[in-house]
Amino acid sequence: MSSLTWIVLSSVLLWTGAETFRPQPAAFNPEPGLKAVFTGDFLIGAALNTSQILEQDSLAKDLIPVQFNSVTAENIMKCEIIHPGWSDYNFTLADKPAEYAEKRQMHFVGHTLIWHSQLAPFIRQIKSPDSLDLFMKNHITTIASRYKGKVDGWDVVNEALEENGSMRKSIFFNLLGESYIEKAFQYAQAAAPGTELYYNDYNIEQPAKRAGAIALVKRLKEKGIRIDGVGIQGHWSIHSLNLQHIEESVKEFSALGVKVMFTELDLTVLPNPWDLRGADVNQNFESNPAMNPYPQGLPDSVNAVLADKYKALFALFLKHKDRISRVTFWGVSDRNSWLNNWPIRNRTNYPLVFDRNYQPKPAYYSILSLKK
Ligand code: G3I
Repeated sequence: MSSLTWIVLSSVLLWTGAETFRPQPAAFNPEPGLKAVFTGDFLIGAALNTSQILEQDSLAKDLIPVQFNSVTAENIMKCEIIHPGWSDYNFTLADKPAEYAEKRQMHFVGHTLIWHSQLAPFIRQIKSPDSLDLFMKNHITTIASRYKGKVDGWDVVNEALEENGSMRKSIFFNLLGESYIEKAFQYAQAAAPGTELYYNDYNIEQPAKRAGAIALVKRLKEKGIRIDGVGIQGHWSIHSLNLQHIEESVKEFSALGVKVMFTELDLTVLPNPWDLRGADVNQNFESNPAMNPYPQGLPDSVNAVLADKYKALFALFLKHKDRISRVTFWGVSDRNSWLNNWPIRNRTNYPLVFDRNYQPKPAYYSILSLKK
């Protein structure tokens, strides 16, 4: 086809509004990305879902390695997938994030070894302390050994604390007492001595739960058990972000001699059911439009608040960059965020710095502006 014919044909199709000629969102891939801008400060990570890890998501494929230098698998290394039966391990999917990170020479976080949630059903049938201890030993030894030299750091124990700082009454605590934490770290140390070992939890920037996490780290250290870092998850809200608590936590955790990392960062912009004091507990939140106020798009004013909150947060991270080793977003784009389905299903949330088409949001530029 001559170029003149091409131009005429294109013009006619565009004029008639032919869908095929409408531009698709282009992959956003500017250099330098976040990871380059924050080099020397801290790692910039993302939790990846299965299609991103398998490179089936075309827009994510090019963007992720430019923007991020650390990878966490959002779900596919969890117990219910990797260890579905007592002697049954399934590494078909779980091997993929390790391969993904290795191919791109990215830092790789193993998520997670011991967690009360997303457990394989057989574990709920375990009734004796010895059997549960044996499960923990087998689980940790098998998985941590398999990924030795590939995983840079393990979330060894995830979410072991209640909001008041006491131990969560999980199956592990109920059968083994608080010593299950020590055992978990010891088994991980034995299986992967060169891998960093972390305790990871949400809301541990808040004073009562923070005190519980500090006590947990101290107990391990006093017994000579290695723990290298504390992961503050960072599932926060633009309506209640508390920078003072976050700063206090960075100082107090790092004073224990462990690395501090923000491991699951996102900022919800939506209302939460429990913010509605006096609300009827039987209210059907799923069909309540007030709980899903932005189904068609985020108003500029809220987008600007989100950008301001991210900017303030990263300014704080930079202030304490000597104590913070990594900041990982829990997801890449708003389209994939777990917060579209929690705590209410099928909402439209906007918690990350890339929008549903993987385009940068004002929050992305507000973070970058801190380094200009
Ligand atoms: O894979 C199934 C799919 O086959 C099925 O059709 C679909 C129907 O609901 O469910 C899919 O599984 C979902 C899974 O995510 C994969 O998308 C589960 O229902 C859903 O519960 C699960 O949610 C995950 C959640 O952990 C489970 O507790 C979220 O994606 C994941 O982001 C979230 O991550 C946790 C961290 O691991 C620990 N810290 C808190 C954080 C947020 O809850």
